[in-house]
Amino acid sequence: MVKAPACTFVIFGVSGDLAARKLIPALFELHREGAMHEATQIVGYARREWSDDDLRSRMRDALIKYGHGEFDQALWDDLAPRLSFCHGDYDGHEGYQALASHLSKLAHDTHLFYTATPPSTYESIANGLGSAGLNHRGDARFIIEKPFGTDLDSAKALNATILKNFDEEQVYRIDHYLAKETAQNIAALRFANTIFEPTWNSQYVDHVQVTMAEPMGIEGRGGFYEQAGVVRDVVQNHLLQLAALVATEPPASYDAKSVRDEKVKVLRAMHCVQVGDAVMGQYISSNGDSSYRDEEGVDSRSRQATYAAIELRIDNWRWAGVPFYIRSGKRLVSKSSEIVIYYKTPPHVPFQFRKPPREDRIVLRLVPNEGISIRYNAKVPGQGISLNTASMDFYYNEQFKRRNPDAYETLLLDAMMGDATLFMRADEVEEQWRIVMPILNTWENANEEPAFYESGTWGPEEADDMLARSGRRWHAPQTESR
Ligand code: BG6
Repeated sequence: MVKAPACTFVIFGVSGDLAARKLIPALFELHREGAMHEATQIVGYARREWSDDDLRSRMRDALIKYGHGEFDQALWDDLAPRLSFCHGDYDGHEGYQALASHLSKLAHDTHLFYTATPPSTYESIANGLGSAGLNHRGDARFIIEKPFGTDLDSAKALNATILKNFDEEQVYRIDHYLAKETAQNIAALRFANTIFEPTWNSQYVDHVQVTMAEPMGIEGRGGFYEQAGVVRDVVQNHLLQLAALVATEPPASYDAKSVRDEKVKVLRAMHCVQVGDAVMGQYISSNGDSSYRDEEGVDSRSRQATYAAIELRIDNWRWAGVPFYIRSGKRLVSKSSEIVIYYKTPPHVPFQFRKPPREDRIVLRLVPNEGISIRYNAKVPGQGISLNTASMDFYYNEQFKRRNPDAYETLLLDAMMGDATLFMRADEVEEQWRIVMPILNTWENANEEPAFYESGTWGPEEADDMLARSGRRWHAPQTESR
């Protein structure tokens, strides 16, 4: 088991939802597994005036509610004294001075600063840490959550402010999809085997689909979602990262620089085609679920998209001419995220057949049932040659009988280890904004209504039409956990 060196982990916005739902449960699991050093300290920072004990009791409640395994009192008793609270604002200098003296008492050389706060505070926090000299005291790391800006210009401005205070090597930008096991397994599948990579190109691949479907609506985040919509919320980041992982060239080594250099290279070659044909959808009520326009905090005439289906192309030697279709939506059938590589049919099939053989495909499933399935054609037993599809299925939990760590456990541990491979670099984020800006600009300057879809379906019919125009159709993801 990996054990990270001792550090002080500072959570800005410790009184918020992200800390309670994700960060504290992930830190507790790392503690349970012995991956977090026994001398590591956790400092919560927030505007409200809590005592150390207030923080401890809130975090204990959070663990009982959102923790991953059984709540273990003995483990908690061991961790709780290492939690302390520091009160301060995000603007100004005072809070950061207080934090600096708080950290001096804990006497660690490595400080991780995690911004679990609204995005509007990111620049003040970076500047505040800089003004208190905490940006370069010992080994300082700045961990930041998306959204990184709301468009290309604001992302550049945010990066510039961060990089005025920190070197790029100190910055850890989170896209939690990169830490999902299947996302990491894309590199293992492609680069630790020889049977996949030779066909992983435009000569053999017909097209690629990336789907991220969610059954829930916007869950009380009307204000945020009205500003963001599906493209800013998940397409600009999670979906483009998954597409990039499928498309990148093999890195020379699996380290932060090599992996991210390759991703940037492929992102630079990526663009949305037929921007006007992208499908921007919005859910309407069905089976008692409310429609998007009836959600709290949403304008009753809102055009905001809760669903998008977009065609990407990658103009490079490997992928020229291969469409990458990406789609995501709220209030779809189920929680299903997957990547499907569709192969071309063979140039010549020497058998007599009534129906032509189906195309081979590889499904990389993130949710549910993390794993990989390969569909191919096989002979049906009996006289003569008759073909049907068969499949080879790999399920993580059956094969390895080990718990898959939550993405945040992986990310927090990597940040403690100083490994930024699964985090995004400034140039990646900016390339991703460049890719989606034409979609956003076209949609936001148009006047048309979104493509409405009933909640509990796979999205608007227009998205099916988009693929049907080239004789293709969307893959039906697995919907039930096994
Ligand atoms: C977040 C989005 O980044 O990812 C949410 O803001 C979305 O809208 C979530 O629901 C999905 O993450 P996961 O890990 O549950 O698939």
